[in-house]
Amino acid sequence: MMRLTHEEQAMLDGKDGPVVREAIDYVIQLGEAFGAERLVDIAYCHYPAEMAIYEGSVEELCEYAERGGKVRVPTTTSTLCCDLERPDSTGCPATLCSLQAQAESAHRSMGINDTYTCTPQHLGYTPPFGSCNLLVESSAIIFYNSVLGARTNRGGLLTRYSAVCGKYPLMGYLLDEQRRGTHLFNCSIPDQRLATADGWSALGFHIGAVVGSAVPVIDGVRTDRRDFLIALGAALATSGSVTLFHLVGVTPEAGTLEEALQGGDPEHVVAVSEADLDAAYRQYCTVDTGGAIDFVTLGCPHYDLAQLRVVAEKLDGRRVADGVRCWICTNRLTRRAAAEAGILRPIEDAGALVIADTCPVESHLRQSTCREHALPVPNVRAMATDSFKMARYSADLIGCRTALGGFDQCIAAALSGRWR
Ligand code: F3S
Repeated sequence: MMRLTHEEQAMLDGKDGPVVREAIDYVIQLGEAFGAERLVDIAYCHYPAEMAIYEGSVEELCEYAERGGKVRVPTTTSTLCCDLERPDSTGCPATLCSLQAQAESAHRSMGINDTYTCTPQHLGYTPPFGSCNLLVESSAIIFYNSVLGARTNRGGLLTRYSAVCGKYPLMGYLLDEQRRGTHLFNCSIPDQRLATADGWSALGFHIGAVVGSAVPVIDGVRTDRRDFLIALGAALATSGSVTLFHLVGVTPEAGTLEEALQGGDPEHVVAVSEADLDAAYRQYCTVDTGGAIDFVTLGCPHYDLAQLRVVAEKLDGRRVADGVRCWICTNRLTRRAAAEAGILRPIEDAGALVIADTCPVESHLRQSTCREHALPVPNVRAMATDSFKMARYSADLIGCRTALGGFDQCIAAALSGRWR
């Protein structure tokens, strides 16, 4: 049986009402199922935004909000299936947009901050090193755990209940011993291969496929760039189910190799070379050189203001090719900031869209949703991206061909409609 504090026992006895009582009861059951000894307070929660493309999801949320569910810790939300501030922009069916809007009202009534993003760190939600948290969205989870050292497991459907009672079982990656690196990856890769985000994404995709759900320690390569670390983590969590990585000399629990391994020996040692990156690109480059591109996605994971500024500089005075949809994905607050800073106009004058709240693979473009709404399947024929996460999921869920390359290649594809 789990040891409860007086406060936790009082919650379980109903002191704070039936909704909180139910929430802590679920969290205790989760902890008991995994053998946790006690609960901890969480500092922050990133909550699964109930998406209208999942049957019954929004309706269930609305009922829960009406029952009085309120979050107790700072809570943000992951992505939706449409851009709620510009519902016509993505071609999402109106019925789905209006259903999704009901979720936004419910989130607000529960006290959840309507960020609708996979990169809440861009909005300043950065809990302290060593704190306990609970997040959903694999690319956010791995960044918080690894780069910030803000501990979290992979939150699932029960994330709601932790947000409502502010508690989570002390287990998994919240424990020091679970954070020890298990696999050492010795990388020997020329610097120029890692000079852009897609290179780090390829590295993460290769390592994730090898390591599965264990904890990789990556040695021999370095970067201090946040966008590269985000790209690395997102890809690790795509080909594998990696929740925590250590980059020696960079991430906070890996000042040295010995620290990352907590003084022990790695269970496996793996060499990584340029050839491994080449193989990763080959796997997801299913468009031939010169082949037609009808969709370009940048901003997987969602871009921050600085990244939008770079896009604006590239597209200023130019024009996206006819027949190409070009989505630059971010969150709604960053888009508003970009509008104020004069960054939005050059992008949108060029014919690209700055999309908030969603991204292609979280949207109605999924094959299953297209079929339900009598939209063309596949809705996209060939997508260019610099993110292995976007390539993998758009191939699987949207059913399109994919072209993977650098940021500049993606911009060129948007302007020409061809993959070079
Ligand atoms: Fe974010 Fe969508 Fe990529 S949710 S991480 S932009 S697949």
